Amino acid sequence: MKITILTLFPEVFEGFFSTSIPLLAKEKGLLDVNIINFRDYTTDKHHKCDDEPYGGGAGMVLKPEPLFKALKSIDATSKRVIYPTPSGKLFNQSIAKELSNEKELVFIAGHYEGLDQRVIDSFVTDELSIGDYVLSSGETAILVMVDAIYRLIDGVISPESLVEESFNDSLLEYPQYTRPQEYEGMRVPEVLLSGNHKQINDWRYKKRLEKTIKNRIDLMSKNIN
Ligand code: ADE
Repeated sequence: MKITILTLFPEVFEGFFSTSIPLLAKEKGLLDVNIINFRDYTTDKHHKCDDEPYGGGAGMVLKPEPLFKALKSIDATSKRVIYPTPSGKLFNQSIAKELSNEKELVFIAGHYEGLDQRVIDSFVTDELSIGDYVLSSGETAILVMVDAIYRLIDGVISPESLVEESFNDSLLEYPQYTRPQEYEGMRVPEVLLSGNHKQINDWRYKKRLEKTIKNRIDLMSKNIN
């Protein structure tokens, strides 16, 4: 998959894409990342990317010209273009899964009061929110979405790791333990040491139910409907 990110702050993405699994995915040729600073597409002396909103009001709006030029340079009208915004549709695991099947994704990082609507009308295919709160920049929302998406690309992580994850079947994950068997007086549950896979699976299923009832009962009612 190719991921193109249009941003005024390319350095935000440097650490993420140069460490751990994203780096491995790039090295394996499964992920290609293109970060574009759309300030490079300004033509005025001061490289201005924002301006006051027509009609008045607080804050600044990202100007259409640099974004149009940057988006045209990558032929964005033929691509899936995602604009993270608190007024978008709520992003979730099934949207992440759907997007992970695309060959290419383009993200636009908004700032201030957002983008000139003409950019959205001309290029954006998906307006997505990562939750009911307001971030100060689109970059962090892009990192969250990209992290949820790229790991679902075939070959990035082992299929077994994805099977029993939270949200795959409307249940949250079971608790995990590793060595040592006892730490500060707390023992690993005996069943996990038993080697009995049927008992281990039953215990894990019970824990998933308990956790979902405690933290996210809404997920279970979604399953019933
Ligand atoms: N930009 C600012 N807040 C956001 C949110 N909640 N989701 C996506 N993008 C955002």
